[in-house]
Amino acid sequence: MSSPTVRPALGPATKAVIPVAGMGTRFLPATKSVPKELLPVVDRPALQYIVEEAARAGLPEVLMVTGRNKAAIEDHFDRYPELETALEKKGDVDRLAAVNESTDIAQVHFVRQGEAKGLGHAVLQAAAFVGDAPFAVLLGDDLIDARDHLLEQMLAVQAEHGGSVIALLDVGLENIDKYGAVAVEPREQTGGDGDVVVTVTGLVEKPPADEAPSSLAIIGRYVLAPEIFAVLRETAPGRGGEIQLTDALATLVERGEPVHGVVFSGRRYDTGDRLDYLKAVVRLASERDDLGPPMRAFLREFVAGLPAEGASPS
Ligand code: G1P
Repeated sequence: MSSPTVRPALGPATKAVIPVAGMGTRFLPATKSVPKELLPVVDRPALQYIVEEAARAGLPEVLMVTGRNKAAIEDHFDRYPELETALEKKGDVDRLAAVNESTDIAQVHFVRQGEAKGLGHAVLQAAAFVGDAPFAVLLGDDLIDARDHLLEQMLAVQAEHGGSVIALLDVGLENIDKYGAVAVEPREQTGGDGDVVVTVTGLVEKPPADEAPSSLAIIGRYVLAPEIFAVLRETAPGRGGEIQLTDALATLVERGEPVHGVVFSGRRYDTGDRLDYLKAVVRLASERDDLGPPMRAFLREFVAGLPAEGASPS
């Protein structure tokens, strides 16, 4: 078992980068004119949960790497004085608070990716914003339940050991070709929530199951050392002809730079997948204080009335 390299951190991460330039083809036609990141999960856009997660973890400065047709995202995180005045006049304090919440959670900045050349290329656009400090990358398709503290644990691992940290989940070999897959070595450490911390010894982007180093997949949370930018600049297009963040991380590992993994054991919803998105909406709605009781009553009745598998619904 190799022990992790202990080196001083460069100072705490304070900035988060959220790539939002993807086309959202899995949700067409809904995403023809509405960015997929703004699809509502109950009553908030999926992206707002991600920004809230960053803010909760102590990262109040957020950079979104956007692309074409993403102007609505800028509007969502901007003030809307006419709407605020209208709600104020009506005395609708709850909705006014909800509207203000979307602008007050974090300081949100935007940069355009220009060309859709992959996740690594998107992250590279954040170099000037980030400077010479570790930073977090949050992918919008992965929603982490607010009761779990994955990003906080990753930031703590980075602050203690330096290097970079990636979030991992065992997705089974049958699903590994949709993810970055990793080879790891265990070590005797757990994160704050009891999640296991491992040393990453190799990474490969979306391998076929029979070539995967393990069934551990990268889920969309990273805390990266700023050295990643120099590596990304030299990273040739990889899988799908795109510059892959996974490939740049693999280069860091090859150079002996520490890359740690936190194996997540909490609740994660893949809002980029239609079925998982629907499950997330139902689950989160049924757990809410306001919508939960009527939603759970509806679900009980609905499930009781479901036809047996194979029979067609009436
Ligand atoms: C990206 C990364 C992949 C990672 C995944 C997590 O892929 O390239 O390594 O496992 O996010 O969601 P994408 O889903 O953008 O194709």
